Amino acid sequence: MTVNFDARPHLARRARLADTLREAGGGVAILATAPERRRNRDSDFPYRHDSYFYYLTGFTEPEAVLVLVATAAETRSLLFCRAKNEEHEIWEGFRFGPAAAAECFAFDEAAPIDTLDERLPELIANQPALWFSMGDDPAWDARLLAALNRVREGARNGVSAPDRLCDVRTPLDAMRLIKDASEIELMRRAADITAAAHVRAMQAVRPGMHEYSLEAELLHEFRRQGAEYPAYPSIVAAGANACVLHYTANNGALRDGELVMIDAGCEYRSYAGDISRTFPVNGRFEGAARDVYALVLSAQKAAIAECTVGKRFNDPHDTAVRILSQGMLDLGLLRGSLDEVLETSAFRRFYMHRTSHWLGLDVHDCGEYKSDGEWRALEAGMVLTIEPGCYIRPADDVPEAFWNVGVRIEDDVLVTGVRPDVLTSAAPKSIADVESCMAAGRD
Ligand code: GLY
Ligand code: MN
Ligand code: MN
Repeated sequence: MTVNFDARPHLARRARLADTLREAGGGVAILATAPERRRNRDSDFPYRHDSYFYYLTGFTEPEAVLVLVATAAETRSLLFCRAKNEEHEIWEGFRFGPAAAAECFAFDEAAPIDTLDERLPELIANQPALWFSMGDDPAWDARLLAALNRVREGARNGVSAPDRLCDVRTPLDAMRLIKDASEIELMRRAADITAAAHVRAMQAVRPGMHEYSLEAELLHEFRRQGAEYPAYPSIVAAGANACVLHYTANNGALRDGELVMIDAGCEYRSYAGDISRTFPVNGRFEGAARDVYALVLSAQKAAIAECTVGKRFNDPHDTAVRILSQGMLDLGLLRGSLDEVLETSAFRRFYMHRTSHWLGLDVHDCGEYKSDGEWRALEAGMVLTIEPGCYIRPADDVPEAFWNVGVRIEDDVLVTGVRPDVLTSAAPKSIADVESCMAAGRD
């Protein structure tokens, strides 16, 4: 059962979505939560609700559907959810049931989920538009189209079916891009827990351990602090494994003299943290690895400084690329001039991904990156990651000292009217801070 649940932010979002639908002529929005998914035989994957549905409801049980009616005269929200069932609750745990759900989550009405199909025609009849996550799930598309056809069958009785089908994710993506106060509070907590987990890994690492041991340290801290699960599969990549961008095997050995790169974040009350840190297994940055680390860090700091209102989404990336490219030339990884390296994208050999993505309920959160063909301007309330890296695979034309060095440094940044607010600043990243954090774990 949800403890101390505050329905107000979700209610306010439903009201805002209803206003948007009204501005577009009114209609009904129908959003289903995510299905449960079989892992093998009698076991399911851990259940995770749909992010759009959660954003509007705060309701985390499976088998639930929100119907939001927005006409000139009224806004009405109905929840369809699982009925109370003592037998199921003995085996699987508490379920709200419609009456308690309506009260706790502030719906105007709630009904058992198995009455949805029978109610759908009545709910969409005479509405000018039907808003849903079009194409997301073919079974849902078919279910709603069947309901539309049932309404059309009633045309002779003067009932009309919506003649516009609209994607409800379009207005929701725009809303979710700008985080409200309650979201920012939860994202700060997700960031704090994630930072603590990275510190724990830095302090636990010893040569001879394996990557999965550090993964266990991360999980321990996530769960110890109440995070539900990792927001995405944790990457714990030592030595050459750090040059595999989405490495998740996490079964390699941690060797003296190598770096380990961790890209991991918790999900706390549905919001994601996303931090990457790279540190030496023996606690001391040395030689080529130290040089590459210093380069990526300078690119990352400069990119963070670009996260201010009015800058474009791509400005941090452009800044990071310029600094990394110059550094690759200075370190002898590339040859030529800076202009040539930028012009030909030669930097992509060692830095082949983008610097940022939106962050929120989903680790790669929703929201457009361009508007009218231009990278969109940053606005207060947006949260994005800044995560440059440098990944050097062995090659004849690359000095051997750099072979298999892989570095990524990633923070979560809230854009504000003032300066960039680095939500994840509790995770050390300067060479001195990382080394002293690691040393403290060995005292
Ligand atoms: N961990 C996924 C990402 O950083 O984008
Ligand atoms: Mn990321
Ligand atoms: Mn990441």
